[in-house]
Amino acid sequence: MDQQFLLSKRYGVVTGAASGIGRATALHLAEIGATLTLIDLDAEGLTSVAVQIEAAGRTTPHIVVTDICDETEVKIAVQAAFTHLGSIDFLVNCAGILRRTSFLEIETEEWDLVMNINLRAQYIFCREVLRHMKDSGRGVIVNVASLAGRTSSVLGGAHYTTAKHALVGLSRHLAREFAPHGIRVNAFCPGATLTPMVQTTTSQEEIDHVTAVTPRGCMADPMEQAHVIGFLVSDASANIIGACIDSNGGALMV
Ligand SMILES: NC(=O)c1ccc[n+]([C@@H]2O[C@H](COP(=O)([O-])OP(=O)(O)OC[C@H]3O[C@@H](n4cnc5c(N)ncnc54)[C@H](O)[C@@H]3O)[C@@H](O)[C@H]2O)c1
Repeated sequence: MDQQFLLSKRYGVVTGAASGIGRATALHLAEIGATLTLIDLDAEGLTSVAVQIEAAGRTTPHIVVTDICDETEVKIAVQAAFTHLGSIDFLVNCAGILRRTSFLEIETEEWDLVMNINLRAQYIFCREVLRHMKDSGRGVIVNVASLAGRTSSVLGGAHYTTAKHALVGLSRHLAREFAPHGIRVNAFCPGATLTPMVQTTTSQEEIDHVTAVTPRGCMADPMEQAHVIGFLVSDASANIIGACIDSNGGALMV
């Protein structure tokens, strides 16, 4: 593979790495040479992805069990990553939760939870990591938003859609402010992808419906999304800044 697509001697953080798209991203980034700190609430899931990366002969990742809702825990996790890796060249903000509650049924507590995990945590991670990146004069951030960050989606409640739209806005702002410092920020907007998030919140009937209205005729595999994230982290995407990159099988054509 062309060197610009590879991540050798690149050090970075992936959140939500225990499951789904984050897990596939951790496996793929390790495969193309990155050294990783993996963050998630799920200790067992993190350990299993670390074992899988090690078994594939790649650099064993550093894992930090963190509740990304907790600002102090996030600060400690980012500091631990910096101390362990020596540099944070990239951040993939992938952790998230999906709630599909109808608008009038959403309690304020649930609204706050979805906002905290899908938006506030990403803001705190970006802030903490950007301090290191600004010092080093380089870096890449990929914020995993959603098709629900581009339009209203049946796979997401109003809180989820609002948080994901805001995450796209945050990414665009950071891209403008930090590009002069050599730092690239982009939002990534996956469409329906077969992960535990979808499998645990969506009936087979709904999955069939989403599949039927997707021009490609199927949901994405998490590794397909990981490949796009790998490209966005790599130097091959050096000219992509402040973009919102879709990967949705044609579900949104604009
Ligand atoms: N699967 C899809 O169809 C789809 C579509 C668009 C966007 N996305 C986005 O992709 C990202 C990954 O989704 P996925 O489908 O892989 O989901 P997933 O549920 O398989 O994985 C999400 C991970 O986030 C972690 N997480 C949740 N809350 C956390 C917390 N408080 N602290 C630390 N970690 C926490 C979970 O433990 C889990 O490992 C999310 O941001 C999601 O919104 C998914």
